[in-house]
Amino acid sequence: MKIGILGTGRMGSRLAAMYAKAGHEVILGSRDVEHAHALVAGLGLERLAAGSYDQALDAPIVLPAIFVRDGLLARLKQLESALAGKILIDITNPFNADYSDFTTPWHVSSAEQIAEALPRARVVGAFKNVFWDTFDRPDFDTTVSDVLVVSDDHDAKRDVMRLGKATPFRHVDAGPLVNARTVERMTLLANQLDYSFFPRA
Ligand SMILES: NC(=O)c1ccc[n+]([C@@H]2O[C@H](COP(=O)([O-])OP(=O)(O)OC[C@H]3O[C@@H](n4cnc5c(N)ncnc54)[C@H](OP(=O)(O)O)[C@@H]3O)[C@@H](O)[C@H]2O)c1
Repeated sequence: MKIGILGTGRMGSRLAAMYAKAGHEVILGSRDVEHAHALVAGLGLERLAAGSYDQALDAPIVLPAIFVRDGLLARLKQLESALAGKILIDITNPFNADYSDFTTPWHVSSAEQIAEALPRARVVGAFKNVFWDTFDRPDFDTTVSDVLVVSDDHDAKRDVMRLGKATPFRHVDAGPLVNARTVERMTLLANQLDYSFFPRA
């Protein structure tokens, strides 16, 4: 299955490499296509190609690796028809810029906001609980890292879990999309604990 990734930051570049190494065709899209080409050339992975956001959006599975605070929702809303019927892997955590709070109210997750903005997309929340540096060391302390996968679309969730089979992560069915509220909030707490009780470095 072909996966289109939007954004070449910490998560986008690592997820693109992870899926390509797992045997999937991946197009890593950027606002700056030259930057994407240089990044992809440096990675040297057979199944990984570079392109624009539009080229990445052609894939049947799309993964935006962009922050909500950087305008992701408005961007996705403009892409509503391009994303209709596609699986959208939502990795967002709606954290504010200093990671002290959320940009969403308590009774909603960014996954639900995306699903509401894109009613025809098949939204699956995943990788929200995986920090970027975990991709460089997924078997930290010989423990396999879990990816919590949430969705109301059972077939789309099953497809995303299958996509993860050859990756270094264990994919766990974490229930309906509403559970993204818990995953997103748990992740901010985990991030804060990383800096206090359980430093990883
Ligand atoms: N960092 C983590 O550990 C982590 C963990 C779990 C989930 N997430 C989620 O993953 C997503 C990406 O996080 P990240 O840490 O990879 O972010 P990042 O390193 O800042 O990269 C974000 C990318 O978004 C693209 N982008 C599009 N519009 C932008 C704008 N207006 N301003 C800035 N960048 C823009 C850029 O890619 P181009 O220049 O190539 O277009 C940029 O490289 C976020 O939704 C975050 O909540 C992050």
